Amino acid sequence: MIVIDGPASLSGEITVQGAKNSTLPLLAAAVLCRGENIFHNCPHLSDVDTALGILTHLGCCCSQKDGDLVIRSDPTQSEIPPQLMHGMRSSIVFLGAVLARMGEAKICFPGGCELGPRPIDLHLSALEKLGAVVQESRGCLTVQAPHGLSGAYIALSFPSVGATENIMLAACTAQGTTVISNAAREPEIADLAAYLNRCGGRIYGAGEGCIIIDGVEKLTGSEHRIMPDRIAAVTYMAAAAVTGSSLTLLDVDNGHMMPMLAPFEESGCMVRPHGHSLNIMAPPHLRAVKHIRTMPYPGFPTDAQPVIMSMAAVGEGTSIFVENIFENRYSHAEELCRMGARIKLEGKVAVVEGVPALQGAPVQARDLRCGAALVVAGLCAQGRTQITGTRHIRRGYEHLVQTLADLGARIQEVSR
Ligand code: EPZ
Repeated sequence: MIVIDGPASLSGEITVQGAKNSTLPLLAAAVLCRGENIFHNCPHLSDVDTALGILTHLGCCCSQKDGDLVIRSDPTQSEIPPQLMHGMRSSIVFLGAVLARMGEAKICFPGGCELGPRPIDLHLSALEKLGAVVQESRGCLTVQAPHGLSGAYIALSFPSVGATENIMLAACTAQGTTVISNAAREPEIADLAAYLNRCGGRIYGAGEGCIIIDGVEKLTGSEHRIMPDRIAAVTYMAAAAVTGSSLTLLDVDNGHMMPMLAPFEESGCMVRPHGHSLNIMAPPHLRAVKHIRTMPYPGFPTDAQPVIMSMAAVGEGTSIFVENIFENRYSHAEELCRMGARIKLEGKVAVVEGVPALQGAPVQARDLRCGAALVVAGLCAQGRTQITGTRHIRRGYEHLVQTLADLGARIQEVSR
């Protein structure tokens, strides 16, 4: 349980962690790239530990040395056991890499998680276009490529991040050329492509809507510095915003932050990107954010929606949110209302009427970014907030409690 005594005033600087959503596909890429794969700036997260468990199970040898990860890729196994798959939904991204390297893969449907059902239809139909044969029984999938994988033209009906990554990983060593149209454009896609190309891949257009992959014979491991985590960065910005603080974030990629800056400026914060750092100065009282509609990159990212709602909860005026990516990504709203927030939900829409102050209360983190939103709210609430479900937070934030305590927050993690 995380206990926060608010309101807090923060000051100082933070070095932003490596991106969780880049690390996970890169670890899948290590299955494909023979020999040694070295990743720098790897965040210490439970999701990364889960992914390393999968790699170890597959026969790869993983070792960690202060932020550096070395993976000797020599997989001998193509089945990922249910207990490892259910640990993390995004382990589906191993499917394409294992299939390409081993010629087959056996996995269980990843647990539908708190964000609503998590279908993988786009992943599977794309792999079938590359020549895979998919069989399903009792929630487990056996995917085989009896004649190897061949390049294909794949048009995604939705620019799915995970499906785009799975196709890239499967197509890298396929026979011939693959074109992905309506590909996801998130920065993590370009980070993955940069690594695969360094390993001998031939991927063009990552970050754009159309990606072309020329299949090569094999990939050889290399090294890579994982890009900064833009969602961790926006979480710390929201913490500064709700506490009227001034913080400096180090090691951010300001290009990735652009789609998320508008609500901070609308609410009265001063944001100054500068090189690889970003400074945010918040006013004593926030105004409402105008209109947040989540969209695929370069639109406003769904992962930032919960922490911005915590800001809106104490912003003067009414804020409107439209969540277009996930069916059920308002679990934080119910918990924020327990702290005195005034939020009305209507399907994809949330209407937030700002209140002068939130009150500390016992609340529960239902998913990773819900937990982050509750921590942000607890920092500005009057009195004590107790957050359970902190295992969700540890999936995606490295040392969140310690980092905030170092900035001046009265926050600690206690066993219940
Ligand atoms: C990635 O999830 C991220 N996870 C998510 O971050 C992020 O919210 C999401 O992209 C959107 O940006 C990782 O990178 C590990 P999608 P992913 O496939 O790949 C539907 C976090 O908090 N869909 O782009 O699962 C799906 O149901 C996590 O760090 C299908 O219908 O996202 C959803 O509504 C949460 N069929 C939408 O597309 C499919 O086959 C977006 O999903 C695949 C997806």
